[in-house]
Amino acid sequence: MSYKSDTKILFKNIDRDDSHKLAVYQGNGGYQAVLKAYGMQPVEVIDEVKRGGVRGRGGAGFPAGLKWSFIPKDDPRPKYLVCNADEGEPGTCKDRDIIRYDPHLLIEGMAIAAYSVNATRGYIYIRGEFYREAEVLQGAIDEAYAAGILGDNCHGKGIRFDLAVHRGAGAYVCGEETGLIESLEGKKGQPRLKPPFPANIGLYGCPTVINNVETLASVPDIIANGGDWYAGLGVENSSGTKLFSVSGHVNKPGNYEVELGIPMKMLLEEYAGGVRGGWDNLKGVIPGGCSMPVLTADICETVTMDYDALAKSGSYLGSGAVIVMDKSVCIVKAIRRLSQFYRHESCGQCSPCREGTGWISKIMDRLESGKGTPDDIDLLLNVCDNIQGKTICALGDAAAMPVRGAIQAFREEFEYHVEHGRCMVG
Ligand SMILES: Cc1cc2nc3c(=O)[nH]c(=O)nc-3n(C[C@H](O)[C@H](O)[C@H](O)COP(=O)(O)O)c2cc1C
Repeated sequence: MSYKSDTKILFKNIDRDDSHKLAVYQGNGGYQAVLKAYGMQPVEVIDEVKRGGVRGRGGAGFPAGLKWSFIPKDDPRPKYLVCNADEGEPGTCKDRDIIRYDPHLLIEGMAIAAYSVNATRGYIYIRGEFYREAEVLQGAIDEAYAAGILGDNCHGKGIRFDLAVHRGAGAYVCGEETGLIESLEGKKGQPRLKPPFPANIGLYGCPTVINNVETLASVPDIIANGGDWYAGLGVENSSGTKLFSVSGHVNKPGNYEVELGIPMKMLLEEYAGGVRGGWDNLKGVIPGGCSMPVLTADICETVTMDYDALAKSGSYLGSGAVIVMDKSVCIVKAIRRLSQFYRHESCGQCSPCREGTGWISKIMDRLESGKGTPDDIDLLLNVCDNIQGKTICALGDAAAMPVRGAIQAFREEFEYHVEHGRCMVG
């Protein structure tokens, strides 16, 4: 495949003037896909999305079509569709751009998803800090209602779909799907035990599909061009295009839409302007948001940006936030900073996460300030063992994985801090 393909799905409209307006969206083929979907049986829509193989872009990579197929069909309860626009994973800023520049793409994707699972009401749970984006989104929803695209009789087809925006209040854990549902219901955003999964007992105890903004925004093109077309983009098990939010020590940080499977080196060099000071100055990259383990420069040389390759290399694709660190970075300091974040964001519901994130943060403070002991490094790993896989939601895993990954990849830096009471870098 040619990795430098120009296929744009998510960013196809962003360079147009007033790309957020309905007239511009419709003038470029917008809302034709939902009309096509309305002419299909709901199950056919799901099958098309399954054929496309799009996997959840919120972090877990669960196949979207499969998730939709779990919604019970002969169930009298209302069905809900929830869009996760919380975008709380540090380093991630892609959903924000979709909403800013192409809100109708998301609305159309939601209308198709809702039709496929017979949901008549949808919510977009948007990160509270995205104040302007919430305004843009509301403006687009208002336009869609006025044009008869949303409401009691969508496109005059007798289909009902109502859509509302709900602003969050700044908690990372409210991006976790069941914490989000609790928050949307007006309660404290604490994740629920699973099972039951939202497909069966979700919002207000009813069957609920919850998907990330980017996942839903990929849907109109899958329906318009067919699942096979979409599956032809990217690589096996990682189909389609993906937005990567490249930040840190590159010359041109930004959001880039590329086909999955692109070599990381190509993404950084040919899209993101190269590593500051040249490729040889690269220390490591966190490839999927700050919850994922860091990869060393030698792995970055050859790894490709897809679900399987990144998992094989010891990290994950996650949300697609690529955090680049050059050799000026003290990894101990970087992890200390991340551990403060997780300590602050733990909701406190599960003891391993509530206590463990505090302990990690305290040990990291000790190590970074030169007061660590030789046992501290193994103690950190022990605390990670006691968090990972032992909490209600994956925030605990998210707190433990970067610490474990950094020790595995850069243990000598941790040891240097213990022995010399300072950093070996700079
Ligand atoms: C602590 C935590 C925070 C999360 N934050 C987000 C987020 O901000 N946005 C998001 O889409 N998914 C987030 N997720 C993942 C969601 O729980 C869920 O997997 C996702 O919304 C499902 O959508 P998808 O299948 O389209 O990816 C988070 C998960 C955890 C454990």
